[in-house]
Amino acid sequence: MKLHEALLLLLLPLSACWAEVVEDFTQRCPGFFATPNDVISPPTRFNGDRYKQICQTQNGERFFATFYDTANKIPVYSAYKFNRLGNCRKCTRPTKWFIEPQLDEPVPENIDMAKESTVRSENRGHNQALHKDYKKRGYDRGHLAPVCHQNLPRCVLATFTLTNAAPQLPEFNKDWYHNVEKKVSEILSSTCIPSNLRAYVVTGVVPGREEINNRVRIPSHFWTAFCCLDNNNRTIRSSAFLAEYQQETWPQMSVQDLERRLTTLYNNLNTNIPFTLFGGGCYTAQNIQETKGKRRKYSFEQKSEKRRKSIKTV
Ligand SMILES: *[C@@H]1O[C@H](CO)[C@@H](O)[C@H](O)[C@H]1NC(C)=O
Repeated sequence: MKLHEALLLLLLPLSACWAEVVEDFTQRCPGFFATPNDVISPPTRFNGDRYKQICQTQNGERFFATFYDTANKIPVYSAYKFNRLGNCRKCTRPTKWFIEPQLDEPVPENIDMAKESTVRSENRGHNQALHKDYKKRGYDRGHLAPVCHQNLPRCVLATFTLTNAAPQLPEFNKDWYHNVEKKVSEILSSTCIPSNLRAYVVTGVVPGREEINNRVRIPSHFWTAFCCLDNNNRTIRSSAFLAEYQQETWPQMSVQDLERRLTTLYNNLNTNIPFTLFGGGCYTAQNIQETKGKRRKYSFEQKSEKRRKSIKTV
């Protein structure tokens, strides 16, 4: 072993930059955020200790970034770079889900997402959702950074952390996939990627009024936005989608329009700050297009009531 390698091994466990839950993810894992006009531009970060910034890491490799709400036990958003050129249907899904050990106890040596059992039982789940929260509740673990935007099995695996998921009704999950995730993948794969643009995506949720297992907040909305930049950090293409449980449309809109909607939705939670998706950049001219989804009758409140009843009788 060479001297500098030995030194590196000595320093590794001490170095804070290897931790996954970080002070500022724009410094620790900047590669997942759009850089319009040369500025690293994450979506708005709310103030408060309950919010944590995560560089999602597996086997020492970073895959995307998540802004996590430890009180609601769901993410606010996940941000990633889109590299995929390919077919969403061909993804193989792992069966296991990870959690983020560092949210529950200080384990600086463990930089990876990990199994629940790596966290001591007395600390486990204080600041994040666990498997038991989702078990038999009638809700999917809905991905934010989605499976079908990853182009390698190890990237797919890295999206299977509960810190990247929020409760989503199975029907809504399917519609979200068909009307938004797949569509964004098609747009980026057919326009931005072939033109050698860098494509960045952020996907988030708005917390609703109900919880599963009295612990994990069910979102009222899922949203996503993308931004394609050229080699000079100029915005060439951008767009956004907002989906609400009660709606059967999947409006595609401009980044600005989604920002206006989210500012209102998040201000209901008393955050009182304008919400930006790309730091106030990535704007392009675009009109709202309503995309009709498959007509489904999921009244969110009714359904969850029905589900709760069915759970009780199990
Ligand atoms: C684009 O912005 C990033 C972030 O500030 C910077 O590192 C990079 O050099 C910029 N690219 C150009 C061509 O200026």
